[in-house]
Amino acid sequence: MIDLSTTYMGLALRNPLVVASSSLTGNLEGVKQAATAGAGAIVLKSLFEEQIAAETAALGKHADYAGHTEAAEYLQGYGMALGPQEYLQLVKDSTQAVDVPVIASINCFSHNNWSDYAKKIESSGASAIELNIGLLPTNTGQQGRAIEQRYYQILHEVKSQVKIPIALKVGPYFSSFAEIAKHLGHDRAEAPAFTVGWCGPGETTGNIVWRKADALVLFNRYYQLDIDIDNLELVGGNPLSTPADINNSLRWISLLYNRIESDLAASTGIHSGRDAIKQLLAGATITQVCSTLMTNGFDQIGRILQEIEKWMQTQGFDSIGEFRGRLSQAKSEHPEDYERLQYIKLFVGLE
Ligand SMILES: Cc1cc2nc3c(=O)[nH]c(=O)nc-3n(C[C@H](O)[C@H](O)[C@H](O)COP(=O)(O)O)c2cc1C
Repeated sequence: MIDLSTTYMGLALRNPLVVASSSLTGNLEGVKQAATAGAGAIVLKSLFEEQIAAETAALGKHADYAGHTEAAEYLQGYGMALGPQEYLQLVKDSTQAVDVPVIASINCFSHNNWSDYAKKIESSGASAIELNIGLLPTNTGQQGRAIEQRYYQILHEVKSQVKIPIALKVGPYFSSFAEIAKHLGHDRAEAPAFTVGWCGPGETTGNIVWRKADALVLFNRYYQLDIDIDNLELVGGNPLSTPADINNSLRWISLLYNRIESDLAASTGIHSGRDAIKQLLAGATITQVCSTLMTNGFDQIGRILQEIEKWMQTQGFDSIGEFRGRLSQAKSEHPEDYERLQYIKLFVGLE
């Protein structure tokens, strides 16, 4: 008897296939369809920090707002029309309508003005919150350390407000992703030492516990920029991923498994049961899917689950725990293989 059940951020899931945040999960109908199709959990469409701030009239104070074009369009009514109040209603309705965990999602870039809202999400019944932190640091004067500090501040602020688990969905663009994953993935007695100017006057972080993210979602796939050479203008690239986009996430899941305490959620490029199995073997706690559902419909969830079950039968595995992380670096006899970046042999062959 195959058992697909698993635990994610302390939540019991019937299987490790989670519907990622997108317009598919921005309304009750989509949430119900995802649950009926067999999803292990559902991440709702993100609400933007700016929307929450706008409601509390704090928007004008946001120095970064002007550069956040996606949010500006969003606020002008492009995309999902839900405001913060309607979003709380969606959380309430969704948690009542389905019997799988519903994870709310906030797209944010600062810890200012909006973190109270996390409490409201918690009171509305969400099982957890996924914070999609989207920063594109284009300012040449901005230091890398200051950007990293934002991530710690946002996590710290939201963790101080709520008891439900918090996942951080991040991109891969850090100088030292392993280091930031370590800081986000462990409880700490002190704020990371390098964060000069973190505390206000007279404040100390000495007796605060800086709590880990309950999960890291690796990785976000950002809006793709492209250029139309015939009309000489900027256009959006393909918003949907392909299976070829899986490798970066696969590499980092396999490198971080058993090295940080947060759960690891795999996102980007998972289109089939094979892809999900690869991520589980690398060490993913759960696998998130979006593009494949947009292309193939919610029935794809059943097909992916069947594929995983069939593979487990063939391999003689009864539960996910029997093979999760088996191909992680931590369990490998050849850990150096995971750190190879260059195609040495290929270049040699071409000479
Ligand atoms: C149309 C569309 C809308 C999306 N909206 C959100 C969103 O609101 N919040 C979020 O965290 N991710 C959003 N995403 C990103 C997906 O959750 C996911 O991380 C990304 O598509 C990569 O996964 P995939 O390869 O399975 O598509 C969106 C993706 C698409 C294609």
